[in-house]
Amino acid sequence: MNKKVEDAINKQINAEIYSAYLYLAMAAYFDSEGLAGFSNWMQIQAQEEMAHSMKFYRWVFERGGKVELEAIDKPNGEYGSSLEVFEEVLKHEQEVTGLINGLYELAIEEKDYAFQSMLKWYIDEQVEEEGNAQQIIDQVKLAGDKGPGLFMLDKEFASRTFVDETQEKAE
Ligand code: FEO
Repeated sequence: MNKKVEDAINKQINAEIYSAYLYLAMAAYFDSEGLAGFSNWMQIQAQEEMAHSMKFYRWVFERGGKVELEAIDKPNGEYGSSLEVFEEVLKHEQEVTGLINGLYELAIEEKDYAFQSMLKWYIDEQVEEEGNAQQIIDQVKLAGDKGPGLFMLDKEFASRTFVDETQEKAE
């Protein structure tokens, strides 16, 4: 496997696991606020991020490369409101989109056509991730920071379940 590509994917495996960790910290914030549905949404989000990292992990082995795991940064975990959390989610997902675009640019530079094709799944996923975050920001703004609107949203988010889309769409 091309070394530059291998190193970049290993970095991305770390970034995806960091995303899982960040969302778990957000879940813990919501649990501390008594918002179990919001916490559930974040825990599912963390599971999705682990699945994103595992799709890259499987790819490294499929292409004969070596997975190298690095230390995961400590997420902040201190937030002032539900709105602030989701604004942070959107900002984070925009950064991840930048990382995925960077990988795609590298795949083009290195003429790694198979990797370019594989990355399209992530490019589409990032559109969805940013869209979801923006939608929830709008919903939380409408609901307000306390009161019945937020309670309704919390009930709605309690029903989110995990589906591993990396497995469904993979082969
Ligand atoms: Fe792995 Fe939220 O993108």
